[in-house]
Amino acid sequence: MSAHFDLVVRNAHVATASDYFNCDIGIRDGVIVQLGLDLPKGEREIDAANRVVTPGGVDGHCHIDQPMPPPIRMADNFDTGTRAAVCGGTTTVISFAAQVKGSSLKSALDDYHARAFGHAHIDHAFHLIVSDPTTEVLTNELPALIKEGYTSFKVYMTYDDLKLNDSQILDVLEVARNNNAMAMIHAENADCIEWLTRRLEAAGRTAPRFHAHSRPMLVEREATHRAIALSELVDVPILIVHVSGREAVEQIRWARSHGLRVFAETCPQYLFLTAEDLGIDDSYKGALCVCSPPPRDKANQQVIWDGLADGLFTVFSSDHAPFRFDAVDGKKPDGDEVPFRHIPNGIPGIETRMSLLYSEGVLGGRITLNRFVELTATNPAKAYGLHPRKGTIAVGSDADLVIWDHGNREIRNTDLHHAVDYTPYEGMTLRGWPALTVVGGDIAWDGISFYPRTGKGRYLKRLPPSLLPQP
Ligand code: URP
Ligand code: ZN
Ligand code: ZN
Repeated sequence: MSAHFDLVVRNAHVATASDYFNCDIGIRDGVIVQLGLDLPKGEREIDAANRVVTPGGVDGHCHIDQPMPPPIRMADNFDTGTRAAVCGGTTTVISFAAQVKGSSLKSALDDYHARAFGHAHIDHAFHLIVSDPTTEVLTNELPALIKEGYTSFKVYMTYDDLKLNDSQILDVLEVARNNNAMAMIHAENADCIEWLTRRLEAAGRTAPRFHAHSRPMLVEREATHRAIALSELVDVPILIVHVSGREAVEQIRWARSHGLRVFAETCPQYLFLTAEDLGIDDSYKGALCVCSPPPRDKANQQVIWDGLADGLFTVFSSDHAPFRFDAVDGKKPDGDEVPFRHIPNGIPGIETRMSLLYSEGVLGGRITLNRFVELTATNPAKAYGLHPRKGTIAVGSDADLVIWDHGNREIRNTDLHHAVDYTPYEGMTLRGWPALTVVGGDIAWDGISFYPRTGKGRYLKRLPPSLLPQP
């Protein structure tokens, strides 16, 4: 019997996290069913013409339609957020269901599932955010949810409505250890930030650029060190998110050199932005780039590049946090230019994550193509229990693929597909971008048009992390 393929991607120069090879990719029912030369004709055919084909990106850290304290609202819902992801070569997203203090994890999840259901164009999963680790949460709810497939959660060391103290962090890390989950940690020292913020405010220094002054590298260094010590005490792996520069990197290198299982994430803003993007004067334009930790300087950008190249970083995520600039529910709450303390933290980046790293990392000669795949797809899939279904090109994996074009193209917000009114990367030149994105065997982006898959994106129940052999 001859093979039947719904789609054959021909003449692909396939890159995985470990190999390069030329082949045709045979797809049936949304799954890769054959890799080989001269495959029989499919119902539909695409000629990759020897261009690079990578697994679709897995964005393991993005905020989509996450409820915020009024009047703030995220600009992207699961329709626009996953549309932008596809056009940027990302085919799986893991966003955050945040527990409200005083409420259960389950109620956050119920609300969040309702926000995604029927709207997502791509497969998606949810990390939990644990903000209120009551006895009930620690002994019953969190272990049960991990078993149900929510195999990762984030804890915050800063932000009043989310932060946990060290004792609480130890408690949730113990749950991660006992139940084989991945704990992600936002490492910044809340008390230092508050102390600095009050002094800046007293001196009238409230413009957006002072956000960076309120969160200097030492607050990240100290919290990173503390997070590592807490994980060592509990004897559990952790993943430190959005690492911004040298002093935090040094802590992670120290931990690794002592055999500790500390994973790390960085994001485009720490490669392509600096604190100057928050303003060199008191202009409110700097609010565009207010995020935490803040971008640092050129020397720190180089440290991040080095960590991407030499294996220090495990995953490269967007930390997409979509707030409109000129909006009462965005960077100007109630229409006002507010002191930096009140500017919603976060910047958009779900659509530009893959192209920026491909352009300046791979085509710029800083990282290999294999490493690009590892950082953007394979490792996030492993860290968050989705591999090998996601994050690789292999028989049996979901047919999520990107074909890459090379050449120069300027980033313009008007060409992007998110619902945000700016991109921090406006005017930057890309050297490579997704010419075609295949999602579950469907052509969802052809470099010009987006083909909606509304509601076809499935919620993914996840396995335990598989980055390292589990104890
Ligand atoms: O500023 C940031 N990173 N906003 C998003 C929330 C978070 O802490 O990741
Ligand atoms: Zn964070
Ligand atoms: Zn984030």
